[in-house]
Amino acid sequence: MSFYDVLAITGGFTLVFWLLKLCWPCFCALRLYVFSELWQVDFRRYGQWAVVTGATSGIGKAYACELAQRGLNIVLVSRSDDKLHRVAKEIEDQYGKKTHIINADFTHGHSIYPAIAKKLEGLEIGILVNNVGMVYSDHFAYFLEVPDAEEMMVVYIFPQMTRLILPGMVERGMGLIINISSEVGVRPQPLLSLYSATKIFIIYLSQCLHAEYKSKGITVQCVAPALVSTNMTRSMNVKCLMKSASGFAREALNTVGHSNYTSGCLSLQNLALTIILPDWIRMSSFFIRKLRKFPERDEDKKKDEYVGKRRNAEKKF
Ligand SMILES: NC(=O)c1ccc[n+]([C@@H]2O[C@H](COP(=O)([O-])OP(=O)(O)OC[C@H]3O[C@@H](n4cnc5c(N)ncnc54)[C@H](OP(=O)(O)O)[C@@H]3O)[C@@H](O)[C@H]2O)c1
Repeated sequence: MSFYDVLAITGGFTLVFWLLKLCWPCFCALRLYVFSELWQVDFRRYGQWAVVTGATSGIGKAYACELAQRGLNIVLVSRSDDKLHRVAKEIEDQYGKKTHIINADFTHGHSIYPAIAKKLEGLEIGILVNNVGMVYSDHFAYFLEVPDAEEMMVVYIFPQMTRLILPGMVERGMGLIINISSEVGVRPQPLLSLYSATKIFIIYLSQCLHAEYKSKGITVQCVAPALVSTNMTRSMNVKCLMKSASGFAREALNTVGHSNYTSGCLSLQNLALTIILPDWIRMSSFFIRKLRKFPERDEDKKKDEYVGKRRNAEKKF
C-alpha cells in the first residue's frame, strides 16, 4: 500500500467521522421531536390519575388538557377557585374525563401539604406534573429588588409534592414525574437570579431522582422550556421563537419515554438564543442595564402606539 493510499483511507475515515458527528445530533432531534409523535407512550399504563400543579393557565393547563385527551383523569392544583372550576369543567366537557380540584397557595409554605395529601388519598396517581412556578417581579429586577424569601420558597414545592406522591408510585412499581425547569436554569440569567437558581435546582433534583428510582419503575423527566406564550411571558404573540402552550405540551409529552431531559420542543429558540445572546453578552453590565429597562421601553412603545392611534382617529373625524 502506497503512502497516498494510506492518506486517502485516513481522509475517508476522517470525512465519515465528521459527517456522522454532524448528523448524529440532527438524527437525535428528529427522533425525539418528530418520530416520537409516531411512538407515543400510553400514559394510562402509569395509573388512572395525573396531578398537575399550576394547572389553571399556561403550560400547566396545557399539560392537564393534553393528559386528559390521552385518557387520564386530572387533579388540578392551583390557588384560584373560580379558575380551577372553569378549567375542570372545560376538561370534563371536552375530554369526558373526571377531575378533582385542590385549592392551594404554594407561597404559604409547609402548612399546605397535609391538606393536599388528604385530598389525594385513595387516588391511583400515575403522573405528577410539577409545573407551578412564579416570578416575583413584573420586570427584570436586581437581586435586592425581589422579596427573596418568597421566591426561594418555590424550591420546596417540587420535593414536597414529590414526597406526597412518589411513595404510592414506588409501591405500584410504576410512575412518571415531570418537573418543569427552564432554559434560564441551564444558563444563568442576571436580573432573574433567584428564579434562575431555583430552576437549576430542579434540573439536578430531577436527574438524581431519576437515577435513584428508575430501577423501581419510576421515570423522572426534566423539561426546560425557553419561550412559551403564557401569562408569565405576557402572552406574547406565537412566532417561530415563541411556542404556544398547547403546542409545547403536546410535543413535550411526546418525548416521554424517549428522553429524561428535554427542552420540550423542536424549535430554533435555544440555538437562536445561544447565537444572538452568547454568555459574554448576557453577563455583561451593558446588557444587564439594557435588560433592566426592557419593560419600561415596552410601556413607552405601547403609549406611543396608543397616542398614534388616537391622533389618526382624530384626523379621520
Ligand atoms: N412561559 C415560559 O416561557 C416559561 C419558560 C420556562 C419555564 N417556564 C416554567 O413553566 C412553568 C409554568 O409557567 P407558565 O408560563 O405557564 O406560568 P403562568 O401562565 O403564569 O401559570 C402559572 C400557574 O401557576 C399558578 N400559580 C401561580 N402562583 C401560584 C401559587 N402561589 N400557588 C398556587 N398556584 C400558583 C397559576 O395560578 P393562577 O392562575 O391562580 O395565578 C397558574 O395556574 C413555571 O414553572 C415556569 O417557571 C415557563
